[in-house]
Amino acid sequence: MAMKVTVIGLGYLGATHAVAMAEMGHQVIGIEADSKRLSALQEGKLPFYEPGLDEALARVIASGKISFKSGHDEDSRDADVHFLCVGTPQVTGSYAADTSYLFSAVDALAPYLSPTAVVAGKSTVPVGTAKTLTERLSKGAGFAAHLVWNPEFLREGTALEDSLRPDRIVIGVPSGDDHSEKVMRSIYEPITNGDTGSPAGQTPFLVMDVATSELVKVAANSFLATKISFINAMAEIAEASGADAVRLAEAIGMDARIGSLFLRNGIGFGGGCLPKDIRAFMARANELGVGSAVDFLADVDAVNLRRRERVVELAKRELGSLTDKRILMLGAAFKPDSDDLRDSPALMVALKLAQAGAHVVIHDPMALHGIKDRYPQLEPIEDVFEAAKGADIVVLGTEWKFYRELDASKLASVVSGKTVIDGRNALPYQSWQEAGWKVIALGRNLENA
Ligand code: UGA
Repeated sequence: MAMKVTVIGLGYLGATHAVAMAEMGHQVIGIEADSKRLSALQEGKLPFYEPGLDEALARVIASGKISFKSGHDEDSRDADVHFLCVGTPQVTGSYAADTSYLFSAVDALAPYLSPTAVVAGKSTVPVGTAKTLTERLSKGAGFAAHLVWNPEFLREGTALEDSLRPDRIVIGVPSGDDHSEKVMRSIYEPITNGDTGSPAGQTPFLVMDVATSELVKVAANSFLATKISFINAMAEIAEASGADAVRLAEAIGMDARIGSLFLRNGIGFGGGCLPKDIRAFMARANELGVGSAVDFLADVDAVNLRRRERVVELAKRELGSLTDKRILMLGAAFKPDSDDLRDSPALMVALKLAQAGAHVVIHDPMALHGIKDRYPQLEPIEDVFEAAKGADIVVLGTEWKFYRELDASKLASVVSGKTVIDGRNALPYQSWQEAGWKVIALGRNLENA
């Protein structure tokens, strides 16, 4: 049954969720306080790059299923569900998550909330946040508000696909709140009954207590971060012993208990989620008096950051001093198929190389916007062969398909030094070697390969 929903906060998560809800047939009001972001969406433009989402946005605007506003008005009163999708960034100078946007969101919603409406939090939060939000919202509304937690597991680059055909749906419901559970089951029916292309009747719908549902998200992201840092730790061992971390990952990943995904070693994880989530988890565990339970996440973070340094070490090993050396960084985004620069390993490595004295030229198929103004120490160039002219060394920081398919011979003809550091283990190294390149890949000894 089509329902009416508001989606509060239209960043990556919110904009995707709003479009997905409208694609499922629900009537959606998207609420965004940032005027630039709002007017872009009203004009049918996405304020970020996400494959397939722009077409979907155009579709749901044309079908009249979605509208965008700067705040709630009378139209919000009869919504069945209000989704909270605002950001929970890292507090400056601390590991903790800043939940203030969530509190502002419920304060703004309270006057428009109906007693039967369900508020569903989707943002990633420290465990315990939902309880405090419920108290605050109930006080503001003047009745016991229905608030559930509904963590989101979408990945940038495959956000719409992940939203319409998720691995599972998780809902944290306060005990005895059967009404909320019923509403949430009904809102996700297009997924569970197969209308969105998900296998009918097979998407697990997990109902649990609220605290567990909050933890599921941070635990999942912490596990993923740990898996990446584990293979990066193995890469450090491999580099010291002449072993090959890529072959190692292949071999251990074939054990079904381990699994091969998220075992790609390189310059590590970045983005708006994994790095800040493991830090917020450590901060929250400390508050709960069980900090030592997740002490290992400090090592996960440390291994991750060391791999960025490793590229600088390798560049110095190859070039000696980096002063006045020209380095081409291939990639700026934190992962391919995204233009997100938040805590991007590629961008951070580029900045470190510049700090070490190099002249760093940076290229990315999608994410060069804003680099010139925000990072004047880097030189963004849009044409890759132009960018490569005279480079003493090339570094791969983001494994875009574009780079994997790059003409290595043509690139070799314009650079000054034919050495490439593959920070993502993504280049077809044999064809690069055939084109005359010395290929250095993190965690590998290609002479032994
Ligand atoms: C991550 C989670 O994967 C999503 O499930 C979650 O919903 C999301 O955070 C979130 O909390 O909102 P995302 O940040 O889009 O999604 O990116 P990932 O695909 O998880 O990649 C994170 C980083 O890890 C990237 O920098 C990527 O290059 C790196 N990575 C990934 C590796 O270095 N090695 C790997 O094997 C896999």
